[in-house]
Amino acid sequence: MTNFAAPRTIGFIGSGHIGSTLARLAVDHGYDVVLSNSRGPETLSGLVEELGPRARAATAEEAASAGDVVVVTIPLKNYRQVPVAPLDGKVVIDTNNYYPQRDGNFPELDAEETTTSELLQAHLPGSFVVKAFNHIHFKDLASQGTPAGTPGRRALAIAGNSEDARRVAAALIEDFGFDVVDAGALSEGWRYQRDTEAYVDRYDAEGLRHALAQAKRYRDA
Ligand SMILES: NC(=O)c1ccc[n+]([C@@H]2O[C@H](COP(=O)([O-])OP(=O)(O)OC[C@H]3O[C@@H](n4cnc5c(N)ncnc54)[C@H](OP(=O)(O)O)[C@@H]3O)[C@@H](O)[C@H]2O)c1
Repeated sequence: MTNFAAPRTIGFIGSGHIGSTLARLAVDHGYDVVLSNSRGPETLSGLVEELGPRARAATAEEAASAGDVVVVTIPLKNYRQVPVAPLDGKVVIDTNNYYPQRDGNFPELDAEETTTSELLQAHLPGSFVVKAFNHIHFKDLASQGTPAGTPGRRALAIAGNSEDARRVAAALIEDFGFDVVDAGALSEGWRYQRDTEAYVDRYDAEGLRHALAQAKRYRDA
């Protein structure tokens, strides 16, 4: 069943730098979180303790089942290990970036025939993937959120093939303290991929829109 309701529980496939930072933001804003990693829930006990009663650790399958929205935040090379069935009908937020030194070579990405989030979407055909949080360093994610209306508020981009899913992701990003710039379909996600103008640098909404419009393909950069 498709779920575009405002989430109460956020599942995490991956609980490293970005996963744990997003989980902390989520707990701070009143969401429950279910964390997972590759080594098993017992290795997340310290983080769970630190996050408090709104957090628990589980297997990746269980985190995928428990989340109303699920964040996939792992090294891209492992994306085919993301559980498929429990994510059916759900909004899946994809923070992943492609670093060939870490991930090995993906010829379809090297040829710029597709994008990282479109690969995840193809792996999860029943889910609604939104590319988000990939172009901000985890320390900035923890520290740069501000209330809506703050002059110069940092903006983050989203892309996804479902407008409803983009709306759900945008509401979370707003909640976590950032303006949102909608880049459109997943195929537009390359505009804020690794080493683009929009990547990692701090922009408000107007600046980010400009950076996305100026983006160059790797082949033209
Ligand atoms: N670091 C940043 O500031 C930043 C910013 C934006 C985007 N990103 C991107 O976001 C993704 C995550 O980055 P990160 O810095 O958070 O990485 P990280 O600190 O290395 O954490 C990766 C997490 O993924 C887990 N994991 C790996 N394979 C898994 C699998 N098959 N199933 C479940 N969990 C798995 C790891 O668990 P184990 O430790 O148990 O293996 C770990 O919890 C990457 O694609 C990265 O490029 C990073």
